[in-house]
This record gives sequence, structure tokens and C-alpha cells, in this order.
Amino acid sequence: MNATNNKAADQSFASEGGSPEATSKTSPIIRVQDLTVRYGEDTILQDVSFEVFPGEIMAVLGRSGCGKSTLFKAMIGLIESTDGTVFIDGIMVHAMSDEENDKMLRKVGVLFQSGALFTSMTVAENVAFPLRQFTRLPEKNIGQLVKIKLSQVGLAGREHYLPAELSGGMQKRAALARAMVLDPKILFFDEPSAGLDPVTSAELDETILNITQALGTTIIIITHELESIFHVASTVIMLDAEERGIIARGTPDELKRNCSDIRVQQFFRRSFHE
Ligand SMILES: Nc1ncnc2c1ncn2[C@@H]1O[C@H](COP(=O)(O)OP(=O)(O)O)[C@@H](O)[C@H]1O
Ligand SMILES: [Mg+2]
Repeated sequence: MNATNNKAADQSFASEGGSPEATSKTSPIIRVQDLTVRYGEDTILQDVSFEVFPGEIMAVLGRSGCGKSTLFKAMIGLIESTDGTVFIDGIMVHAMSDEENDKMLRKVGVLFQSGALFTSMTVAENVAFPLRQFTRLPEKNIGQLVKIKLSQVGLAGREHYLPAELSGGMQKRAALARAMVLDPKILFFDEPSAGLDPVTSAELDETILNITQALGTTIIIITHELESIFHVASTVIMLDAEERGIIARGTPDELKRNCSDIRVQQFFRRSFHE
């Protein structure tokens, strides 16, 4: 057996289109193959391929407008005009029946970039929402679960607050509790710490890391926060608008130290003052 603990180490800095040979015996929980996504005439992503392994934390980097949020939406089936295939825990996303769609949505939790919470619902109602949508749990159990999830993210006692009554950091935590309430195998975070001050943002990273380490959740996180990347990510992919896809992949350290691509170097240099 030639198994390795570090899947990322198997992957070279593949340039556009290069799908890394998986030498690991573990099968990926997410497989994106030759994914192409368009908005009308505009091709945003072209033939993007990558894999994510169970328990891995993958960071998606890239400048504003390069298609990071688009990639997320396409991966969970929210964008119709796509070519290629995406497998999420064995379900082929773009060929799903309604039943499979529900099944897939129960496996993934998503924290979107904006509009994270329903503003007219209390924190508890927000967190209870996926439970009411996807399970037939009695109200009593829903209440218990909501309480547990809120205490996991440090919001015990805030059940009856409206989102507007919470700070930005607390709103993100409530959205995190909602994304996690079905105990998803996979979590998608679209810039979770955007708009938060550095301390609050670091606390959120800490919460994310603690929870997922305990549960072994697989995570894909879009972030500009270099600190977060080094703190939490095991693998990184960087997208580029002109290339319409991945320009670099590896561990955060590999990209920072060894990647010769000027766009990657610029990204890391701008964010670090060494
Ligand atoms: N619904 C949409 N319709 C048309 N173009 C869109 C839509 N959403 C995003 N775009 C465009 O697609 C590109 C990628 O956007 P996005 O995925 O939001 O980038 P990122 O999340 O990396 O900042 C941008 O040029 C953006 O203007
Ligand atoms: Mg975005």
C-alpha cells in the first residue's frame, strides 16, 4: 500500500485543464470534471476539473469576478447552462431527479456570500428552516437541535433574536448553524469572513475549524483571507478570469513558496508583509 496522508502532495501545480492523477486509495467525495459554465454568451468557467477528498478543507482563491461563486452555484446544481460533470458523494449533480436533488441538498450545507439569513425570521426559525424542509422531525426535536447548533457556534440564548439585532459576526455564526443543522458531509462557504473585522473573522475561522475537525466535514471555502487559508486549508485552487479556470493548485505552502506563476505570487505577496 502506497497510501499517503497528504492528498495535496500528490498534486503538482497543474496548469489549466490538468487533472491530477489520484494516487490515493481514498475516493473523492467531490469530483468536478471538465465543468464549463456560461451566462448567456459569456463562458465564465471552461473545462474545470478537480477533486476533493473526504475531510479535506479546500480553499478557492482568485480575484473578484473570476467565477468563484459561479463555481459553487454550478456545483450544487443552481446553474442550468453547464457542460461536464459534477459528482457529490456519488450523485451526478446535473442529471439528478428531484429525489436525488433533495438527497444531495441534505448532504451539503451552504453559506452564501450574501443574503445569508431570512431577515423576518428569528435566529431559531432560520436554523430550523432546513429541518422543516427536509425532515419530518417533531417540533420538540427541532427545538432541541436548534439549541445544540446555536450553542456550538456560540449563540446560546439568542434563539429569539432577529438577524438585524445581531452583530455581523453573530449573523455569520447563525448562518453557519443553519448550514450545519442537517449535519452535512460537505460544507460550502462563500467568503464567510467578508466584511468582518480581523478578530471576529479569526474567531469565525476558529469555530469553523473546531466544528469540522470534530465532525470530519469536508469543506470548500472561498476566501481572500490569507490567514484563513494557512490556518484551515489543506489544499488550494486558484481561479483566473482570463483563463476561465484553475491556474494553480497545491497546498497553501506550496503555492506560496514554489509556484512560479506571477499571478499566484502577486496574490501571496500582496497579502503578506514579510
Ligand atoms: N447571474 C449572472 N448573470 C450574468 N453574469 C453573471 C451572473 N453572476 C455572475 N456573473 C458574472 O460572472 C463572472 C463571475 O462572477 P462570480 O462567480 O460572482 O465571481 P467571484 O465570486 O469570483 O467574484 C463575473 O464577470 C460576473 O459579472
Ligand atoms: Mg463571489
